[in-house]
Amino acid sequence: MTAHAFGKVILLGEHSVVHGRPALAAAVSPGVDAEATPSATDDGLALDVSPWDCRFRPADGSDLGRALGALGAALGVTSGHVRATVHLPGGGGMGSSAALGVATARALADLHGLALPVEALLAAALAWERVFHGNPSGVDHTLAALGGVGVYTRAHGLAPVPLRGALRLLLADSGERARTVDMVSGVARLHQRRPETTERTFDAIAALVRNAELALAAGDLRALGEFMNLNQALLAALMVSTERLEALCAAARTAGALGAKLTGAGGGGCVLALADTPEGESRVLSAWEALGATAFVTEVGA
Ligand code: MEV
Repeated sequence: MTAHAFGKVILLGEHSVVHGRPALAAAVSPGVDAEATPSATDDGLALDVSPWDCRFRPADGSDLGRALGALGAALGVTSGHVRATVHLPGGGGMGSSAALGVATARALADLHGLALPVEALLAAALAWERVFHGNPSGVDHTLAALGGVGVYTRAHGLAPVPLRGALRLLLADSGERARTVDMVSGVARLHQRRPETTERTFDAIAALVRNAELALAAGDLRALGEFMNLNQALLAALMVSTERLEALCAAARTAGALGAKLTGAGGGGCVLALADTPEGESRVLSAWEALGATAFVTEVGA
């Protein structure tokens, strides 16, 4: 059986969610598919990832190899050959690593005939995610496992937000990459150096998330776009934006986007924008393509 896990887009609230605040996030159906077969010579766990054309093993010293070992230990399995296909931009802020962990856990559980209740799946995926950054909020792997659109907090998990209809999101890959662990620890250092201002920034983002939740539920895209723009300014204050991300957001707004911001850990990866008409969408996508970015549209909450 092929196991699937969703990708994700954070509409608002990345980074502050690590520090206990809410994030508004949505699963996207491109994600990761995985299948597991018994290891040919019963030689432990292995993970082949397409299209990266790489094989990982727990003892190979790579992050993915170590994550596979941590996932196997959490599930209580020591063998199985997983073949996974990633349909997301790797390291682009769309949850590729969490989706890979969730799909791998499901494939291994299926191979070994293990029941995998949600709590056990989330615990295994958290063990996987901890290898990539020591302090994951859990938003990525929760969306990868559960899907849907909702407000996530560390304390309460995912609370679904009912939508009036499908929401179309415009995305552009900046082509830049940064490690989530570095971006998250950069914000943690800022928090240590300037606790009061950083806490105030987190609180301001939390207020935007709560307002964005109401706007999303009411189908008020104009307000949602405004909140995204304000969130982007606060993410820049947390030092996780880049010149390229700012240029892509500015180009989207100039082309008529209702709002634009980075999505995920920043330092590169993807930017996200909203438009309210098909013509508006085309203008934003063309503006991004003129800047040499790969641009695409995805739909959430269908
Ligand atoms: C990464 O997709 C989102 C961050 O908030 C990290 C996390 O929540 O664990 C930057």
